[in-house]
Amino acid sequence: MDISGRRALVTGGAHRVGKGIALALAGAGAELVLHYRSSVGPAEETAEEARAHGVAVELRQADLSDPESIAGLVADPVDILVNSAAGFPSDHLVDVSLDQWNHTLALNLTAPVFLTQAFARALPAGRTGAVVNVTDWKTERPYLGPRFSYTVAKGAIDTFTKVAASELAPRIRVNAVALGVVLPPADAEEGYAERLAAETPLERVGGVEVVAEAVLHLIRNDFITGEIQRLDGGAHLR
Ligand SMILES: NC(=O)c1ccc[n+]([C@@H]2O[C@H](COP(=O)([O-])OP(=O)(O)OC[C@H]3O[C@@H](n4cnc5c(N)ncnc54)[C@H](OP(=O)(O)O)[C@@H]3O)[C@@H](O)[C@H]2O)c1
Repeated sequence: MDISGRRALVTGGAHRVGKGIALALAGAGAELVLHYRSSVGPAEETAEEARAHGVAVELRQADLSDPESIAGLVADPVDILVNSAAGFPSDHLVDVSLDQWNHTLALNLTAPVFLTQAFARALPAGRTGAVVNVTDWKTERPYLGPRFSYTVAKGAIDTFTKVAASELAPRIRVNAVALGVVLPPADAEEGYAERLAAETPLERVGGVEVVAEAVLHLIRNDFITGEIQRLDGGAHLR
């Protein structure tokens, strides 16, 4: 797929990983629909940076834990959907509340599923589309820490990626990037990133550029679908 002139929706595009993907798409000539929930200032700044690439950018606000908000985001057709927005709550199986579980599943699983459904329904006949989900390589070997509902939801995203790729072929390709330590959480304690990097064969934190590059590759290469690309610095080897 030639990205130039296509229209791309990136959820959670205001900052961090979503921003990196959005700016890479803008740099490749895509018009953006940039979604944010609460980060209005950073979203406006990211939109300005994207417009510097000469592309049109629309901002759309939505709380994706509310399924009612989904239809409005894909009201007009887009060619590319990147599901990056997600929560990273702390919980264990033994203490997760039903409300917490429902919230995590709504945001991290239901929203990408129904955004993809709306995307597929809106795509005009004769146009091809590409979806990229952002997941976590730790679905293969779960976190020892308190990430129960997050990990289960991302594991379901892995399965969803394959099922959707199969159902939506040949017109729409669906792939995923499974991230390792790309950016430490904003509230990470001192030394968190360095500690995890030291446990990784490539001995570093990935940064958003490696994610953006892989997302562009999965969108551009018309023979890839149902693929989950690990970007983990080799962490799965240990
Ligand atoms: N960072 C890493 O190293 C890493 C590792 C593994 C996987 N990942 C995955 O990569 C993706 C991006 O990670 P990140 O670290 O950049 O995320 P982040 O800093 O935690 O940001 C979360 C994003 O999700 C949006 N969001 C949160 N709650 C929302 C809601 N209820 N409705 C709509 N949007 C909501 C936020 O939007 P607002 O700020 O506008 O509220 C924000 O853009 C996620 O899918 C994450 O699971 C990241």
